[in-house]
Amino acid sequence: MQVTDRAPILDVVGLHKSFGALHVLRGIDLAVRPQELVFIIGPSGSGKSTLLRCLNRLEQPTAGSIRFDGVDVLSPGAEINRIRRQMGMVFQSFNLYPHMTALGNVSLALRKVLGRGRAEAEEHARAALERVGLADKANVYPAELSGGQQQRVAIARALALEPKIMLFDEPTSALDPELVGSVLAVMRSMRESGMTMVVVSHELSFARAAADRVVFIDQGQIVEQGPPAQIFAAPAHPRTREFVARIAGHE
Ligand SMILES: Nc1ncnc2c1ncn2[C@@H]1O[C@H](COP(=O)(O)OP(=O)(O)O)[C@@H](O)[C@H]1O
Ligand SMILES: [Mg+2]
Repeated sequence: MQVTDRAPILDVVGLHKSFGALHVLRGIDLAVRPQELVFIIGPSGSGKSTLLRCLNRLEQPTAGSIRFDGVDVLSPGAEINRIRRQMGMVFQSFNLYPHMTALGNVSLALRKVLGRGRAEAEEHARAALERVGLADKANVYPAELSGGQQQRVAIARALALEPKIMLFDEPTSALDPELVGSVLAVMRSMRESGMTMVVVSHELSFARAAADRVVFIDQGQIVEQGPPAQIFAAPAHPRTREFVARIAGHE
């Protein structure tokens, strides 16, 4: 079955978000299908982070609907903690606990959020660290890890909870250029193992290689979307063309 034949696991319709008088999201419609990798690009301040944060209600949308895996995320009765567990989130800043080892950071969520016992949590955490290529760093503290390794621990922490979708908000933007590749390689392998992913990033070569669809957002609206080849090589909209030329120049 093609990815495009499947019913969406995430379906956002007419999403608006205002902060006071600032109307940030202006009617976003976005459906993500199981195993799809949707790549989001757009200028700084266009609302990309706000969109991701609305998906699991880290921000409360002003209007619209969000369905995730058959659940109405915005309904008052929605089990938001369960939804957040199933939407793994990785940010630009890794937010690891400095006083805990890599293993401690990854197993903590399993113990606190899923209520696993120590031994079981650590077993799962080791498996997650192995998936991101850090099995040998389990007992190392964040300060002794490179930025790329720290971000991979943060990815392992999300993966350990066995999410149904992973949301990435500029996961490589804080990294020195030589460390970006290791994080993108982990994301590639997640994608190959069938994880559904929404990725906000400026890494165009990654998008070309791994994205099913690229979505260009400007001023809180989706201006254009399509396969990477179309959006990068033959964008229909002048604003997309201008933006793509600008970020391609920085590659
Ligand atoms: N909590 C907030 N309170 C007020 N304004 C915010 C808040 N979060 C984001 N904004 C504003 O919303 C706009 C979109 O921000 P953001 O979603 O972070 O954009 P992007 O991720 O595309 O750079 C910006 O003008 C930003 O200043
Ligand atoms: Mg942002």
